[in-house]
Amino acid sequence: MSEKLWIFDTTLRDGEQVPGCQLDTREKIVVAKALEELGVDILEAGFPISSPGDFNSVVEISKSVDRPIICALSRAVEKDIEVAAEALRFAKRSRIHTGIGVSGYHIQHKLRSTPEAVMEKAIKAVKLARNLVEEVEFYAEDAGRADPEFLTRILEAVIKAGARVVNIPDTTGYCLPEQYGNIIRHLKENVSNIDQAIIATHCHNDLGLATANSISGELNGARQVEVNMNGIGYKSRNTSLEEEVMAIKRQTKIHVYTEINTKKIYETSRIISKLMNMPIQPNKAIVGRNAFAHSSGIHQDGVLKNRENYEIMDPKDVGVEESSIVLTARSGRAALKHHLKLLGFEFEKEKLDEIYEDFLVLADAKRDIGRKDLLSLLGEHIENSPFISLEQITYQGKEGEEARAEISLAIGDDIKQGASTGNGPVDAVIKAIKQLISQEVILDEFLIQAMTKGSDDTCKVHMRLMHEGKPYHGFGSETDIVLASAKAFVDALNKLHVK
Ligand code: KIV
Ligand code: ZN
Repeated sequence: MSEKLWIFDTTLRDGEQVPGCQLDTREKIVVAKALEELGVDILEAGFPISSPGDFNSVVEISKSVDRPIICALSRAVEKDIEVAAEALRFAKRSRIHTGIGVSGYHIQHKLRSTPEAVMEKAIKAVKLARNLVEEVEFYAEDAGRADPEFLTRILEAVIKAGARVVNIPDTTGYCLPEQYGNIIRHLKENVSNIDQAIIATHCHNDLGLATANSISGELNGARQVEVNMNGIGYKSRNTSLEEEVMAIKRQTKIHVYTEINTKKIYETSRIISKLMNMPIQPNKAIVGRNAFAHSSGIHQDGVLKNRENYEIMDPKDVGVEESSIVLTARSGRAALKHHLKLLGFEFEKEKLDEIYEDFLVLADAKRDIGRKDLLSLLGEHIENSPFISLEQITYQGKEGEEARAEISLAIGDDIKQGASTGNGPVDAVIKAIKQLISQEVILDEFLIQAMTKGSDDTCKVHMRLMHEGKPYHGFGSETDIVLASAKAFVDALNKLHVK
C-alpha cells in the first residue's frame, strides 16, 4: 500500500540564504501562502535567532498560514531554541528543527569537539525543544559524510530524547544515489527505535544529484523529503520540489504519494522565481520554458501524432496549458502545418511544400519563427481575390500627426473614390477605405514587419479584421508602409467578400 511522503519545504530558509534571494516579511507571507495553496505539509519559515527580521517573519507567517506545520531552524544551542519557540508561538502547529554537525569534518574542524560532546549537546537540545513545542526534528548535519556507526548512535539517542523526525542531510552534496540510499537503509535496519520517527532526506546538488539522492532515500524508507521550489537553495541548490513530486507521481515503483496539488506547480514556481529574483533556466525540468517545447521535426511530428511519444507528463498536470511546438529551421512540415492551422489556414500538400521552402529560408536567418513571422510569410502565398482592388492612393502627413488620404477602389465593376483625414496616414487611408464599403469591420490586429535591412526595406503588414464575430486576415507587402497597410486592409476585405 502507498504511504504518505511528507513534503517539507525550505524555500524560505535554505532557499532564502542564497545571495540575492532575500525577501522581506510581506514577500515571505506571499510565498508561504502560495506554498500552502500548493499543499506542502511542513513550511520551514526561517532561522529566528539569525536576525530580528527573520524572527519577525516566522511570527507573521505563523499567524498567516493555517494548514502546514510551521517549522523554525535552530542550532543545538539553548538560546537559539528558546528564540525559535518564541517565534513559533502563533503557529497552529509548530516544529523546531534543531541539530548539529555529525561528520568527522564537522566534529573536528568546525565544532572542534568530540563525538561524545556532540551527542550530549544533541540530546540536550532535543529535550529542551520538546518541552517548548509540539514537534521536534533533529538534523544530523553533513550526515552524507558521517561515520554510519556514530550516526546510528546519535539518532537512537535523539529519538529517545523526543525527536519525531530525523533529518539526514547530504549537506555537501557528496553522495551518489546508491550511497545515500544505503545510508537510509542502514538507519532503518540499525537504529533500534526508528519506528518512533520519520526519516527525512535533505539533499544538496553540488554534483547535480540532489533529486536522485532524495528519491533513493525514499526508495529505502525515508518518508519526509526536504525540498525547495525551483530547487532554489544554498550553493548549487537543494532538491527541487517539482522534480521530486513529479517523479513520485510518474514512477509507480516508488510506493509513496504526496498531497501536492501538482496543477499549481507552474504558477507557484513563477511567483517564487519573481519574488526571489531567481530566473528559471529555460531547460529546467518541469518548470523551465523549454520543459514541454519541441523544436526538432522528428519530435514535433511524434508529439503531434501522440503527445506521449515524447512526453512522460501531461503539461496540464503541472499547470502548463499545453506542449509547445516551436518553429525553427529544425522543424518539419507537420509543425508548420500545425501552426498554420492554429492561425486558421489549411493548405494542400503542394502549397504547404512551397510555404515550407520559404519558411526554411526565413528560419535559417531568424532562428525562432513567431506568429508574426508566419503571418508575413503567409502573405506571399495567399491568392488575392480580384473583387476589390486598390486603383490609386495618395496621402499627406506623417505618422502621429493629422494626415489626409485619397483613395480609389475598384469594387466589382465600379470605381469608387473616397477621402478622409486621420491620426497619421495609415489611419486616414483605412478610414477612407471604410467609407467605400458597406460592411461593418473592426481592425482587430495590425502587425508590421521590416524584412530587409537598408534604405529600401520591404515592409510586410498583416491585419486582422473582425466582421460579425469572424476574423479575416489580410497581407500587404511594399516598401511604403502606408501602401502595404492599404493592401493588407483590401486583402482582408476580399476574404470577407468571398466568404
Ligand atoms: O544542509 C543542511 O545540512 C541543512 C541543515 C541545517 C538542515 O540545511
Ligand atoms: Zn541544507
